[in-house]
Amino acid sequence: MNDELSLNDPIAPTADPLIVPVVETEPDDAPELEAAPMIQAVGSLPWRFSCFVTGTDTEIGKTMISAAILHQLVAKGLRACGMKPVAAGAAMRDGELHNDDADLLRAAGNVHLPVNLTTPFMLRTPAAPHIAAAIDGVTIAPVPIIAAYAEIAAASDAVVVEGVGGFRVPLTDDFDTADLAAQLNLPVVLVVGMRLGCISHALLTVEAIIARNLVLAGWVANQIDPDMQYADENVAALAARIPAPLLGRVPFMDQPDHVRAASCIDLAALPGWPPAGD
Ligand SMILES: Nc1ncnc2c1ncn2[C@@H]1O[C@H](COP(=O)(O)OP(=O)(O)OP(=O)(O)O)[C@@H](O)[C@H]1O
Ligand SMILES: [Mg+2]
Repeated sequence: MNDELSLNDPIAPTADPLIVPVVETEPDDAPELEAAPMIQAVGSLPWRFSCFVTGTDTEIGKTMISAAILHQLVAKGLRACGMKPVAAGAAMRDGELHNDDADLLRAAGNVHLPVNLTTPFMLRTPAAPHIAAAIDGVTIAPVPIIAAYAEIAAASDAVVVEGVGGFRVPLTDDFDTADLAAQLNLPVVLVVGMRLGCISHALLTVEAIIARNLVLAGWVANQIDPDMQYADENVAALAARIPAPLLGRVPFMDQPDHVRAASCIDLAALPGWPPAGD
């Protein structure tokens, strides 16, 4: 990982949200009235939270769970913004390129920034990103993504970054989504799409996350196959092997709904998650 590009310091969740800004103060005889607003401002400094949402595959519920996390953050009164750094499959509407994931994250959050920040690489072709980028004549690169992330973080209290497909999707010849997660250096939430075969996919993903020294902050069992046999046993097998908390089980929903999904997950175990009542 490139240390210069790491945003660990500016955005890492902190146990102490009340970082008192350094201010030039008058000598001790400064009028007391002037101190009061500063105390208020310090007391109201926002909590900070960020995470990177990855999954066992494409189409297994990353957007659903990212939107659910955003919903919980918004419900806590925080300024929450979703980011889909690379989206493949976009169509022009109202003079702007739109992608379903980007639109869903935007609707679930409450900080509305220009789409070139929340999705710096909006690709038209619905294909693997490096292929879609080649077709669009675009070269995906980490720096614009990291710069955009920094702007989003500066304008928000909480940022939820959704990955692309599984954990190791190529973005260029020598840069993939795991590298992106490592450069952003965010705690990772793993969404496991519960279907036959998910155990191996999940455990390989866990290995890849840990190999990059990333924090695996938790995982969600998302029931994408309504007919999966032995779902409970599969969840138990995963829980016994994944060294991170199970944040919740989201049932198969006939009418998929991130607000309902939000009611199925408990995010208190995530690093930097705002405490209850905040
Ligand atoms: N628990 C669920 N029950 C029913 N449908 C679900 C559930 N979770 C997700 N879905 C549906 O499955 C599809 C894929 O979900 P989603 O878009 O969240 O996946 P993804 O991992 O973000 O995919 P991508 O790799 O394309 O970003 C969507 O149509 C979504 O509504
Ligand atoms: Mg998605």
